[in-house]
Amino acid sequence: RTEPLVLGIETSCDETGVGIVRGHTLLADEVASSVEEHARFGGVVPEVASRAHFEAMVPTVQRALDTAGITLADVDAIAVTAGPGLAGALLVGVAAAKAYALAAGKPIYGVNHLAAHVAVDTLEHGPLPEPAIALLVSGGHSSLLQVDDLAGRVEPLGATIDDAAGEAFDKVARLLGLPFPGGPPIDRAARDGQVAIPFPRGLTAARDLVEHRFDFSFSGLKTAVARWVEARQRAGEPVPVNDVAASFQEAVCDVLTNKAVDACLERGVRTLVIGGGVAANSRIRALAQERCDRHGITLRVPRPKLCTDNGAMVAALGAHLVAAGAAPGRLALPTDSAMP
Ligand code: KG4
Ligand code: ZN
Repeated sequence: RTEPLVLGIETSCDETGVGIVRGHTLLADEVASSVEEHARFGGVVPEVASRAHFEAMVPTVQRALDTAGITLADVDAIAVTAGPGLAGALLVGVAAAKAYALAAGKPIYGVNHLAAHVAVDTLEHGPLPEPAIALLVSGGHSSLLQVDDLAGRVEPLGATIDDAAGEAFDKVARLLGLPFPGGPPIDRAARDGQVAIPFPRGLTAARDLVEHRFDFSFSGLKTAVARWVEARQRAGEPVPVNDVAASFQEAVCDVLTNKAVDACLERGVRTLVIGGGVAANSRIRALAQERCDRHGITLRVPRPKLCTDNGAMVAALGAHLVAAGAAPGRLALPTDSAMP
């Protein structure tokens, strides 16, 4: 039996992603981003994102089919992100997927965006050992999950109670005068800086470790950075941008990797997967590797292009569902985020 050929569509945020996979093999990964259009607002504007998806959808699907050297008639199924994400943006992808599925007579799978961030790792490292713990950190989400079965049981362990990790990078970059999206410029600035400023680690106090064991909070950190920078400016002193970037980045990566490794240890899980745009960060990769090595945990982080939002991740989860014999047509309303 040949491996399933699946086309995946992703439109939960500002990337129109169309990917094509055969089993664990990536055949096409086309992404049209509207990030430039949002840059001057310092964050994603939902209405702008929806319109951009609408314009990019058909040409991006066509590019993916051309790259893979196939036609729609060749695919075994179509998968689409059904949630969580921006409702208007998700609707564009879901409507397109339904139209393609109807036109070509293909089964359709509505998939969870977070589970897809985990599934994409199979394109790089092969089948995922289960159970695994997944740390998903991006501009829109920061979650810890236990993946017992990628085609069925995915248990949320915790999430951010305020800002997402990537959002914190974006906001801190803005107050340091660095461009949007803020992750890459902070990552670069931090390389030339010292971790010299003791910024707070959200939800790590003894009481928080009971009530919010695997939750995250980054808004207090962002405020602490803003206060620190303001105090410098008020005193008429220059702001050591590289040191602030390094200290802020360390605070974020320390908490994220600590809680992720703790989740593995408490749950007796030997595999940690990190995904989402923030997984491209050089410090989170290094720190996670160091802490996983110390505890005999296997760390899996896909290459940066697969960490950020894309269609290949949706296709990868779709292919996994087809291979697992899951029933198609699980297409709830776009805001429904039932796993997977
Ligand atoms: O997954 P993604 O492309 O889109 C979603 O938000 O869903 O993630 C984008 C986020 C942005 O907040 C961006 O600043 C952050 O990922 N990011 C990074 C790095 N590269 C991207 N954060 C820290 N370090 C990086 N190198
Ligand atoms: Zn995402």
